[in-house]
Amino acid sequence: MSLSPTNTKGDYYYITTPIYYVNDKPHIGHMYTSLACDVLARYNRLKGIKHVHFLTGTDEHGQKVAKAAQQKEMSCEAFTDQIHKNFRDLSKHMNFTNDDFIRTTQERHKRASQYLWNRIEERGYLYLDTYKGWYSIRDEAFYTVKEVEKDSQGNFFNTVTGAPVEWVEEESYFFKLNEFQDNLLKFYKNNSDFLAPEHQYNEVMNFISGGLLPLSVSRTGFQWGIALPEESLKKSLSKKNHIMYVWMDALTNYLTGLGFPDTFYPNSAGQLTNPYWEEAIHIIGKDIVRFHAVYWLAFLMAGNIALPKRIFSHGWWTNEGKKISKSLGNTIDPYALVDKYSLDAVRFFMLREIVFGADGNFSHSACVRRLNTDLANDYGNLCQRVFSMIYNHCNNIETPSDSQLTSEDLQFLKQGQELFGRVDHSLSQQIFHTALESIMQIVRAGNIYIDIQAPWKLHNSHPQRMKTILWVLLENILKITYLFIPFMPHACEKIFQLFSLDEKILSLSNFWEKKYFYLFSYLSSIKEKPYPIFPKYIEKKG
Ligand code: MSP
Repeated sequence: MSLSPTNTKGDYYYITTPIYYVNDKPHIGHMYTSLACDVLARYNRLKGIKHVHFLTGTDEHGQKVAKAAQQKEMSCEAFTDQIHKNFRDLSKHMNFTNDDFIRTTQERHKRASQYLWNRIEERGYLYLDTYKGWYSIRDEAFYTVKEVEKDSQGNFFNTVTGAPVEWVEEESYFFKLNEFQDNLLKFYKNNSDFLAPEHQYNEVMNFISGGLLPLSVSRTGFQWGIALPEESLKKSLSKKNHIMYVWMDALTNYLTGLGFPDTFYPNSAGQLTNPYWEEAIHIIGKDIVRFHAVYWLAFLMAGNIALPKRIFSHGWWTNEGKKISKSLGNTIDPYALVDKYSLDAVRFFMLREIVFGADGNFSHSACVRRLNTDLANDYGNLCQRVFSMIYNHCNNIETPSDSQLTSEDLQFLKQGQELFGRVDHSLSQQIFHTALESIMQIVRAGNIYIDIQAPWKLHNSHPQRMKTILWVLLENILKITYLFIPFMPHACEKIFQLFSLDEKILSLSNFWEKKYFYLFSYLSSIKEKPYPIFPKYIEKKG
């Protein structure tokens, strides 16, 4: 990570995943969030943003992880050392380009968390008392009496998540969350774009308006966590060892990943910040909105630290219509998916199939349908038809003069030129499905254009016209492929390799403003016989 002293707005981009609990193996839900972040990181690098930082990692403290370690009869240290690797490995396997992988058990994180704690305490937002109430280990959340009910077997559970809760009574530090109600409401009213999608924004506004209570932020009943700073521990009346509430520790990872506190400095309003932090975007699942959109912002306000730029909450995947859960035994293994369909196909499917922000259903039939229509039939076929004709008939086509272009050519080219702006607009708001739909529209327009122009009929009669048509098609195919790079890096690389295109040329900033790609001036001829990049998926029998 490099920090330039001259912060030019637009030079920085910071994208974060939630950090994953290391209580189990990763499933597609986890992979999905990281994939979304990877696409954004890759896109912004491609666009020429100089300092892109993509952070992911693991949430290793808390009772949930401690319990999982105990079940395996392992120490928490040995258990987390082992399990966190599953998430690191998945990142590699999925071709994610995270710049860092944070573990909350790292020393740098302990330091950052204790520093934030001290800032909040110094500013008078923490006090000691006794927590008497419900706690859910599964959700790692405190619940009020109103949020808890008893089931027919006499067990208590949270009414929203269904997670079992237990009664806890212990000395605890409390954070004066209630004191931030007005500031949070004011902030959200003035920044209605901060939290997307809109329904989440409305829910958070309702939650804050309903009143905020002090939040218990330290635990004494178990020890797997970050110890409070010495001075805070000394104040404990029970003389118990307090550890930080796992969510306070976990949320701080977003600052640790940027080298907090060493790399932060006060802005004109006196809040700590840095150029990456100014551009921070947190991508999270819908179940953890309250922690991010309310608690996290309040912690930052209390510590006089600038707020991130935006939070986007995506929906949840179900498996063939059913909630994905370990107890139902229906988690979907990302490795198995990649083995079955190929990496890029899976990357494409996950972001194409459902509206980012809404829930969606995973089914093998939907996956096969998507891959065979969008990728094999539409995009793959278009590429294969055009590349084969170029290879067979006219390697090294020259850019046609404007007078050689018909109104149909110009109309199709215009669609290609407008594509950058459309995709950029969608991705700047993390709306992946519309970005992909915009690209697919040009793919479909390309297939219509080639069918109408029928260049294969012109080979003998009008070879020059045939070349112009192929040039027009290639121009748009390269734009399409270019914008597909963040989604399907490997397949796109293969396409560019077919033309021996140098990676250095492939910076979107080189092309952003230009009328045509004019990639032909960089292109050498197609050296090897083109082969289908996206073969049709055929279910194996038996
Ligand atoms: N450790 C916390 C996050 C702390 S961030 C400071 C946590 N971890 S988690 O491993 O339980 O979940 C991580 C992410 O995976 C969450 O954003 C969650 O929404 C997402 N998903 C888990 N199951 C999912 C689906 N079935 N579908 C989509 N995403 C899901 O929460």
